[in-house]
Amino acid sequence: MNAQLMRWLRLLAVLGFFAVPTLVLAQLTQSQQEEWLHTPAVASHIGNLTGNANSGTVKYDYRRYCVGCHGELGDGNGEVAQWLDPPMWPKPRDFELAIFKCRSTPTGTLPTDEDLYDTIGRGLDRSAMPIWNTFTNQERADLVAWIKHFSPRWQTEKAGTPIQIPPEPEITPDRVKAGQDVFARVQCWKCHGVAGQANGPSASTLTDDQSRPIAPFNFTDGSRPKCGSTDQDIYRIFMTGLDGTPMPSFADNIKPEEAWDLVFFLRTLQPHNQYNKREKEIAKQLNLKPLNALKLSQ
Ligand code: HEC
Ligand code: HEC
Repeated sequence: MNAQLMRWLRLLAVLGFFAVPTLVLAQLTQSQQEEWLHTPAVASHIGNLTGNANSGTVKYDYRRYCVGCHGELGDGNGEVAQWLDPPMWPKPRDFELAIFKCRSTPTGTLPTDEDLYDTIGRGLDRSAMPIWNTFTNQERADLVAWIKHFSPRWQTEKAGTPIQIPPEPEITPDRVKAGQDVFARVQCWKCHGVAGQANGPSASTLTDDQSRPIAPFNFTDGSRPKCGSTDQDIYRIFMTGLDGTPMPSFADNIKPEEAWDLVFFLRTLQPHNQYNKREKEIAKQLNLKPLNALKLSQ
């Protein structure tokens, strides 16, 4: 045997030594995921629907409609993922981590099945994640169960308890003004900018938990929030935070009454939409001016 070939064979043997354990590890996860498929912790409950990860069709739905981005193992490494460049195009979610942006539950906890169900139907604006409104309710509930089989967290933890949202009070000029004070005090403007244009002093340096660049929400350009657009949704967004991103939960810094004031103020930043006619009128009456960034930084 010539020396060159010997060297190649030795190299192959060394590579093989490393390759085998990684292969085994990968398979272990997959077989573990397959075991989890059959556990009650993975079933989803949405109203009177029960979603099943063994429904017979869900595997094919996932393969056909989700795998291209979220990957066979749910790790977010589907074929399309490489073409998505943050911050413009966030990477697909890694379901193995079970960390979700849109939750009704406190920061750090698992979302409810309804949260995941709603997200799938809503899609995620400013990302490649489409609105999935062609599935039947049962198929969507099954997909929720399927997503849960990718992470061990669902085997050991329960979903968090949804936060309480007090009934929406009436909007008044005082509340809009008080909302602006909250926006200044808890420093939403550091990322979102004084006028909500996503140009605060920290905006350009933000990264998510996986060190990928991420942009704050721009209230003024007509974008839809990823986690819903109603007043209740906005309340929930800043009181639970978008886990995995620099958008924190303010549950410890903002009281429930103040939170409604802040929702009303945020509405004055948004272009006219079906929800904020009244707030815009009030802002005009009050001649409400954007906060002064220089003064705030002192
Ligand atoms: C074309 C790519 C693409 C396809 C196809 C796709 N997704 Fe996504 N999905 C994404 C991206 C990108 C994100 C992350 C968006 C972000 O972080 O703003 C995401 C995020 C999610 C999330 C996490 C939401 C949260 O609150 O964090 C869920 C759940 C989800 N997708 C479910 C699905 C399901 C179920 C399917 C198939 C029916 C699917 N996706 C198909 C791209 C895709
Ligand atoms: C440290 C920076 C930072 C601070 C401070 C911050 N945000 Fe955010 N916020 C973000 C980022 C980044 C996003 C975008 C997350 C994404 O697209 O995944 C965001 C998104 C949002 C969204 C849209 C969420 C969605 O569903 O798309 C709202 C509403 C919001 N922030 C409100 C607030 C309010 C109100 C405050 C103050 C109480 C605040 N933010 C403070 C960084 C911040």
